[in-house]
Amino acid sequence: MAQQPDRRDWWRDAAIYQVYPRSFADGNGDGTGDLAGIRARLPYLAELGFDAVWFNPWYPSPLKDGGYDVADYRAIDPVFGTLQEAEKLIAEARDLGIRTIVDIVPNHVSDRHPWFRAALAAGIGSPERELFHFAEGRGERGELPPNDWKSEFGGCPWTRIADGQWYLHLFATEQPDLNWAHPLVRQEHEEILRFWFDRGAAGVRIDSAGLLTKEPGLPDFEPGVDTHPFVDRDDLHGIYRSWRAIADSYEEPRVLIGEIWVPDTERFARYLRPDELHTAFNFDFLARPWSAAELRASIDGTLAAHAPVGAPATWVLANHDVTRTVTRYGREDTRFQFATKRFGTPTDLGLGLRRARAAALLSLALPGSLYLYQGEELGLPEVEDLPLSSLQDPMHFRSGGTDPGRDGCRVPIPWSGTLPPYGFAADGTEPWLPQPAGWAALTVAAQTGDPDSMLELYRAALHLRRERIAGGFGWLPSAPEVLAFARADGFGCLVNLGEAPAALPEGAEPVLSSGPLAEDGVPSDTAVWFEILDTRL
Ligand code: NOJ
Repeated sequence: MAQQPDRRDWWRDAAIYQVYPRSFADGNGDGTGDLAGIRARLPYLAELGFDAVWFNPWYPSPLKDGGYDVADYRAIDPVFGTLQEAEKLIAEARDLGIRTIVDIVPNHVSDRHPWFRAALAAGIGSPERELFHFAEGRGERGELPPNDWKSEFGGCPWTRIADGQWYLHLFATEQPDLNWAHPLVRQEHEEILRFWFDRGAAGVRIDSAGLLTKEPGLPDFEPGVDTHPFVDRDDLHGIYRSWRAIADSYEEPRVLIGEIWVPDTERFARYLRPDELHTAFNFDFLARPWSAAELRASIDGTLAAHAPVGAPATWVLANHDVTRTVTRYGREDTRFQFATKRFGTPTDLGLGLRRARAAALLSLALPGSLYLYQGEELGLPEVEDLPLSSLQDPMHFRSGGTDPGRDGCRVPIPWSGTLPPYGFAADGTEPWLPQPAGWAALTVAAQTGDPDSMLELYRAALHLRRERIAGGFGWLPSAPEVLAFARADGFGCLVNLGEAPAALPEGAEPVLSSGPLAEDGVPSDTAVWFEILDTRL
């Protein structure tokens, strides 16, 4: 179904590009990406065929967690530009047919946020502290943390301050958690939503959406008990219902997209009921290894979970938190796990690229919306040899240095030229994270017009998807190591994850493939899109 710019349900099958602003394009020559850089590159995203862009946080931030430590939700960090520029960007993108999705971070704020500073200054028992989770410690002198919870970044999620109280931070020390039982916290975030919706944002991506509410009294974690003290608690749904009412109150209803890591698919789908969020990232699909059985199970599980609530699935292969696809699929263990992201894991990048190309065609052919993280369209690998001194991610520091963290997928994008900064910034400028020496062949300029490049594969696939692919989904008969399916309108996709060549269904006419096809069928680690009349759906 061709995207019409004014469709109200555009989000049901949109292709959404994720921009990590620090690393997309530097317009002012300081080595950090910015809004000027993004505005100059909007035509690139429009030509590729994206319907929307999701921007990682662009707010003023001390950058203790890549901008997810927000000091002011209603402003733009001066390193990126100004609020007026953001408004221009949103309008210019819309003129090109691209909607804007803003990242909202409701679980925590920066420790530099005025509310937290006021809470520190106001002291024990003050109303200012009630906006956060301050508590007395355990032990004779309160020297032990108030409970046994673990930080999502590893280590203890409590920090003690000078007056003896502790405060909760599920992520880094500099990201105090808000107290969502407090009406002011709810009111503030409803106003923040309206602030960005009023400026033309078409939707919001909700950070850590499954973690906001905590069990009253903040008790220890009890394994085996049904309700977790801070993950996926039932009282979250009321919050999202009130957000949905706000989103629906706009003439073009705004869209709510949840970052929800909840493995139980039935619990996950509860967030997508018609009066809650519109969609949520499909981390189950992202985390699966390169295996037909695993991916088939994920696709079936995803479609089955979404159907009863009438929500579209989303398909995601990568983002700013995970190892880049080319690298992950080139490893022996192709699952995504935070713990497999170790230094020095042997990787076959050629194999990884072949599989990433096939995975691109797979994910673009499935029913629902699609997220692409910047640089995936170029087949960038994870940068695994960043100098230790350049690393910035708290996940690295909080692991005691054993985990490289997420900087390796956040390296600035190569646009042109043969040497760093590859057109990301003006020549002679040092990007905020160093780019590798060998990226000359991966730049946008080098790949443009090269029919064998990842960029041209994505371009062709995004255009075909927009013009051609729609309707229901059904598996076609195939060998177990092969995924073959058709959409109701006679469009099909086959991905061969086995060793032996796979035959295309009878009567199939190939229209696009991720690699060369052989006489005896579709080679290993290759995907093909085809037209087929008899889909038996
Ligand atoms: C999820 C974000 O994607 C990640 O980058 C961030 O560190 C955490 N939420 C905490 O905000």
